[in-house]
Amino acid sequence: MSPSHSSSWFSNVEMGPPDAILGITEAYKADTNPKKVNLGVGAYRNDQGKPHVLPSVIKAEEKISEMNLDHEYLPISGLAEFTAASAKLAFGEKSRVISQKLNATVQGISGTGSLAIGAFFLRDFHQGPKDIYQPTPTWGNHVPLFKRAGFNVKQYRYYDPKTCGFDFSGALQDIAKIPEKSVILLHACAHNPTGVDPKLDQWKELSNLIKQRNLFPFFDMAYQGFATGDIDRDAAAVRLFIEDGHQLVLAQSYAKNMGLYGERIGAFSVVAGSSEEAAKVMSQLKIIIRPLYSNPPVHGARIAAMILNDAALRTQWLKDVKEMAQRIISMRTKLRAVIEGEGSTRNWQHITDQIGMFCFTGMDKEQVERLTKEYSIYLTKDGRISMAGVTSGNVEYLGKAMAKITK
Ligand SMILES: Cc1ncc(COP(=O)(O)O)c(C=O)c1O
Repeated sequence: MSPSHSSSWFSNVEMGPPDAILGITEAYKADTNPKKVNLGVGAYRNDQGKPHVLPSVIKAEEKISEMNLDHEYLPISGLAEFTAASAKLAFGEKSRVISQKLNATVQGISGTGSLAIGAFFLRDFHQGPKDIYQPTPTWGNHVPLFKRAGFNVKQYRYYDPKTCGFDFSGALQDIAKIPEKSVILLHACAHNPTGVDPKLDQWKELSNLIKQRNLFPFFDMAYQGFATGDIDRDAAAVRLFIEDGHQLVLAQSYAKNMGLYGERIGAFSVVAGSSEEAAKVMSQLKIIIRPLYSNPPVHGARIAAMILNDAALRTQWLKDVKEMAQRIISMRTKLRAVIEGEGSTRNWQHITDQIGMFCFTGMDKEQVERLTKEYSIYLTKDGRISMAGVTSGNVEYLGKAMAKITK
């Protein structure tokens, strides 16, 4: 029966705006310029500009296929071999978190789903204001994700447009004013969208201040290994906070560092005060997950578990991650050299200082528009380029265009 107030139950639904990044890809696809470049999307591309399947992933899939496994449901918390290995990868094999069994770790639907489990868990159990302080800027999805879970989303200063670097003093000043027991969101490494990370001694100061202010850290680690090519170095901030005695929560993603984007494999961990508390937390995480999606998908978990737990595959993977990170780092060097070679008088040091998948170029909205209109180079309006889309084949074209546009 149709509703009495109008012809449809959903006549009240208005057209929402398209997703900013997917919109860029649409426009790129429609462009007929053979020189077009898509630097919008945050997915790794090889030097031919093609999606990349890691050799370690190919081998793991071959092994899995030979095992003739069934397709039964996983437990609510996911594949145990995966969650155990994922926690060790983040905290370190020798961490007190692992030896004292302080972590409750569940499989999540990649990084986003793991963040969502965390947001729901803190909504229900965080003993403090439901306020989360996020860096400005932050990954676009952080804001709606935490808002949907009932958090008030607030900001602390992070990026300094003047230096295209970390606004350390601004961050310290703002964090010092955050009300006690609030939640603070931290990008563990390779900050998205800026590519700007605190140095280790700055992390140390941040950790001290966050402790002093009695804030609760929520780490988002979507790029472990992707920043420097070294999984341990990239986990240094999380491990430092643990050493400093913080309790924290952590979302991990294997989209980027294993190239498993569409497999949706990630993990969410709570570091509890004791192993007994961790068991109680685990029971509640399962209660949160069950009505959401019952249990997670199995294929990506099998691949990640196989890679993390098999010595030969793990060695191969560490090499694969390093190769991806190094290709990006070398493209940073080349891009900067091309722009400077064109006689640009601007300072472009931030291209090589920044880290991970993205470069916050410092170009403004008008410059971005010109880059797209005149050169068919596609990127987000904030001037962010995905370094993963820069290749030996397009770096000259891109660098020359950037130099021209910013003259
Ligand atoms: C900072 C940050 N967190 C989390 C994610 C989650 O990605 P996914 O859900 O694909 O793992 C991303 C992906 O771009 C990200 O940049």
